[in-house]
Amino acid sequence: MAAYSAIRMLPTRTQLSQAYPLASRIDEDGRLQLGGCDALELAREFGTPAYIVVEDDLRARAQTFVEAFRARTTNFDVLFASKAFPCTAVCRVLASEGIACDVASGGELALALRGGFDPARIYMHGNAKSIDELHQARAAGVGHIVIDNADEIERLEAVVGAGPPQPVLLRVTPDVRGETHEKISTGQADSKFGFSMLDAPAAIARVENSPALDLEGLHIHIGSQILELDPFRRAIEAIATLGDFDTYNLGGGLGVAYTSAQEPPRISDYVAAKVDTAHRVLGPGKRLLDEPGRALVANSTVTLYTVQSVKRNVSTWVAVDGGMSDNLRPMLYGAVYEAQVADRFTQSAEGGGTPSRLTGKHCESGDVIVHAVELVDPRVGDVIVTPATGAYGHAMANNYNGVPRPPVVFVSGGDARVVVRRETYDDLAARDVDG
Ligand code: LLP
Repeated sequence: MAAYSAIRMLPTRTQLSQAYPLASRIDEDGRLQLGGCDALELAREFGTPAYIVVEDDLRARAQTFVEAFRARTTNFDVLFASKAFPCTAVCRVLASEGIACDVASGGELALALRGGFDPARIYMHGNAKSIDELHQARAAGVGHIVIDNADEIERLEAVVGAGPPQPVLLRVTPDVRGETHEKISTGQADSKFGFSMLDAPAAIARVENSPALDLEGLHIHIGSQILELDPFRRAIEAIATLGDFDTYNLGGGLGVAYTSAQEPPRISDYVAAKVDTAHRVLGPGKRLLDEPGRALVANSTVTLYTVQSVKRNVSTWVAVDGGMSDNLRPMLYGAVYEAQVADRFTQSAEGGGTPSRLTGKHCESGDVIVHAVELVDPRVGDVIVTPATGAYGHAMANNYNGVPRPPVVFVSGGDARVVVRRETYDDLAARDVDG
């Protein structure tokens, strides 16, 4: 308790880690404010777990991407990789900021259209697109389809038939590895995505000779949560040997800060590295596309939970009302998150918190959200916040243990609105046929 009162003296000095959204702060009472809204009041009003999205943060990052490109080239487009946060309201915000869209399935296409993206600026990806999905893309007037493999060339030709040719890009695996978790690394030669550097020339020739397809250029995406710039440069250099095209989609992959210890490159430095390399090795005047997912949305969002139990054995287990149903990333990739008690912030470097394991409510031992975190005097009923959950949180949420998926709540200028409601128990049975 002594440590706790000392920490209560700290708020004016307490800096929020960069993992938190812009437009969030700690108030004089040590309580977290998000987009002008009090985190505890948000938890009371909307329940927990809940994803809280700071709309101004989303907008600011979108603007930063666009401005960084505009500073270096006039011929570009920034695409939101919608898999990172497939949510109509998020699409609407990003579309209104002038961002275009990448979809990787018919479902993401439906959401992107609902979210107001111009179909002509939608790019459809996928290593196993079905005939139905290709028809859906054609019917919607999707601007570009990114061809992943030889089977898809034939399937798409059949779908196009005698209709107007489909503009396409060809996905190439440049044989470059960025340092990241192997499950989210895609640039290596032995990848399920794209044509290898060896197979690419024949595939390019095949598509160039197809009357149904109009090859505009190449696509690369070497992986995700990459915290250094050199792999991006090397990947662009690698594909420069494959010919001269009008358009190059340089993929996404820029990493973000999940904790204060991580130092991702700035968006402007990432854009500069890609554009400058492209201009140097691909030539000037090319149309350059980028596909950020995580870097647009991750830090816009926090998850709020409520503590249900504090148990002490070898460790202190602080158990909350969510877990692997709302954030699979710690379990799938060993991703490390921060956590704080929403009205008793501390800086762990100064100590004072209880070393804890923040655990979820699911029926397996792997359901640990943060393995080592200092929480200030954690108690039942406390609201816990984990920052940087905007990317691939809602996207990969599930109903394990019959847990309804959380709502998505937008906050801005002191106002809060639900944009995706919490699931109900009726929703869990909504697909039952026999009742
Ligand atoms: N473009 C393509 C073709 C992609 O496959 C991806 C991500 C992106 C762009 C966006 O990458 P980003 O900028 O978000 O790194 N569920 C994993 C991430 C999987 C990424 C899949 N592809 C996670 O939670 O870390």
